[in-house]
Amino acid sequence: MCCRPSAGTGVTAYNRCMKPLVISCSLNPQSRSALLAKHGFNTLKQQHSDAEWVDLREVDLPMCDGGPAYSHPSVSLLTELIRQADPILLAVPVYNYDANAAAKNLIELTGRAWTGKVVGFLCAAGGQGSYMSVMSLANSLMLDFRCLIVPRFVYATGDHFQKDEDQLVAGPIAHRTEELCEAALGLSQALSRVEPSPGFVR
Ligand SMILES: Cc1cc2nc3c(=O)[nH]c(=O)nc-3n(C[C@H](O)[C@H](O)[C@H](O)COP(=O)(O)O)c2cc1C
Repeated sequence: MCCRPSAGTGVTAYNRCMKPLVISCSLNPQSRSALLAKHGFNTLKQQHSDAEWVDLREVDLPMCDGGPAYSHPSVSLLTELIRQADPILLAVPVYNYDANAAAKNLIELTGRAWTGKVVGFLCAAGGQGSYMSVMSLANSLMLDFRCLIVPRFVYATGDHFQKDEDQLVAGPIAHRTEELCEAALGLSQALSRVEPSPGFVR
């Protein structure tokens, strides 16, 4: 097991593992955030061959009911994957000025596995105006699970993708995705050097 909770002198608890994970949360077969996610994953994979990839379109996840759903085999698998990962990039579609419900459902289902993670966001949206939409999910991760949110989001609209093929246009948004990967890895690495405080309980 690569994870070891750590903490500064009474500050907080971060993970010592360096197994980056990208979770693509759109359920749309033509998802654009999935293209951002793939680019992020390929970037991370160059430095960490053990980087992991999850596409929620391929996972049979129940809706969180606060009870029996926690015992679903997919929930156990994802919970363990998240527990062992750091940093985690969440690729989300913006729906109704928020992350989509599938992203929130994933976090409801996997809860404490997120404790102390470095988390970055890759967002696909219809327009420029919703650029603060992931803040409620980011707040929840910060306040519920003491996640460290990378203060560099990727926010892409239709203009950042080729019209016909729905391919990510190489250019500013691809570069920004690479910067997010670098920032997330850098934060993870920096936190891994923080010494655990003696009485820390995860
Ligand atoms: C139900 C729904 C709600 C949406 N709400 C917003 C919104 O509030 N703001 C916005 O900029 N785009 C909104 N969009 C557009 C999506 O963000 C856009 O299609 C994006 O590409 C979705 O990500 P995906 O391609 O990865 O699924 C909405 C789309 C749907 C289907």
